[in-house]
Amino acid sequence: MAQLLITGGAGFIGSHTALVLLEAGHNLVVLDNFSNSAPEALRRVQELAGPEAAQRLTVVEGDIRSAADLDRTFAAAPGDQPVAAVIHFAGLKAVGESVREPLRYWDVNLAGSRQLLAAMQAHGCRTLVFSSSATLYGYPEVVPIPETAPIQPINPYGHSKAAVEQLLDDLAASEPGWRIARLRYFNPVGAHPSGRIGEDPSGVPNNLFPFVSQVAVGRRAELQVFGGDWPTPDGSGIRDYIHVMDLAEGHRAALDVLLAEPPQLLTLNLGSGEGHSVLDVVRAFEAASGRPVPFQIVARRDGDAASTVADPRLAAERLGWRTRRGLADMCRDGWCWQQANPHGYGH
Ligand code: NAD
Ligand code: WQD
Repeated sequence: MAQLLITGGAGFIGSHTALVLLEAGHNLVVLDNFSNSAPEALRRVQELAGPEAAQRLTVVEGDIRSAADLDRTFAAAPGDQPVAAVIHFAGLKAVGESVREPLRYWDVNLAGSRQLLAAMQAHGCRTLVFSSSATLYGYPEVVPIPETAPIQPINPYGHSKAAVEQLLDDLAASEPGWRIARLRYFNPVGAHPSGRIGEDPSGVPNNLFPFVSQVAVGRRAELQVFGGDWPTPDGSGIRDYIHVMDLAEGHRAALDVLLAEPPQLLTLNLGSGEGHSVLDVVRAFEAASGRPVPFQIVARRDGDAASTVADPRLAAERLGWRTRRGLADMCRDGWCWQQANPHGYGH
């Protein structure tokens, strides 16, 4: 049992991971500015975890770019239990927005991470799990993609994640003692099976899964399928979707390995190793929801690759972790959340 600091813990992946870590017996301090989330998510995490575990979660509203907010967050951990590790989810993640607002992306994602690392150093904490992304691989040359594939991001969001990965390399090389896991997520989707917490994008969703679920629930008329002429079996794009609960459990496994083993820098893909096309997702969602998902095939979207699928073997070897939930589970749990919360947390 350890004292952990989670940045961005109210967000989609952070909230599910916070629940898994509370259930594992850890004490958590979450720092979030709620720029893309609602405090209600953490209230529901507490409700799901139960009254005893709920007391082990402290929430601090603040910004990772603020040294004062970070000091306040480290100070929120009980005095006899300094922060043993940080799980750093806070950041901006919308590719299109990053093209329009690169300064904001570099500020939150890079400057925010730098500020956090400086605070960790000042508070004597050198264990970090960082949310990286398969977006680093750009248009991959080899699929399934191994961690050794070239880093060649193609948008400001990806550039900012690559810069943080570089910074972590430099930091690990600068002094002994750092324990760092850079986890490159593929396409996280779904929700906790209770349907109490899930993904709550604001505005029109950029990503396939939340869009499909909003079509199924009747919030949007039809899905646009970006490209029907990709070099894939059905012509639509292929991705490696990973259930958010599998991803949350991957964080727990990474943390356990970092805390148990000598200092190291781990770089791991978190994906299932299985590819599904856009049309596979449509069919699976229709089956899970019993609702039609009307769609129209339109032009390809700029910056999309035909197929991105993880080679997940290194994570299996190093963490003893692999995904356990399939596409049908992702759709069932995502639909349960969508149906019970047609307008998300309503924030
Ligand atoms: P999210 O937007 O749901 O969660 C991010 C959280 O960080 C939100 O609660 C937001 O309010 C908070 N936040 C943003 N800026 C902040 C700041 N300056 N200070 C404090 N809090 C701040 O996103 P998510 O899907 O949960 O993603 C979490 C992390 O995983 C991100 O770093 C993202 O880049 C990365 N990632 C996500 C995906 C994905 O598809 N969801 C894929 C790969 C990597
Ligand atoms: C999936 C597939 C689309 C929407 C993005 C980020 C990546 C990572 C995960 C953070 C593709 C198709 C989509 C729609 C569609 N995030 N699609 N109609 O692009 O693989 O990855 O999220 O790190 O960085 O780029 O995910 O869900 O947007 O798209 O046909 O309305 O669905 O073309 O084939 P993507 P996505």
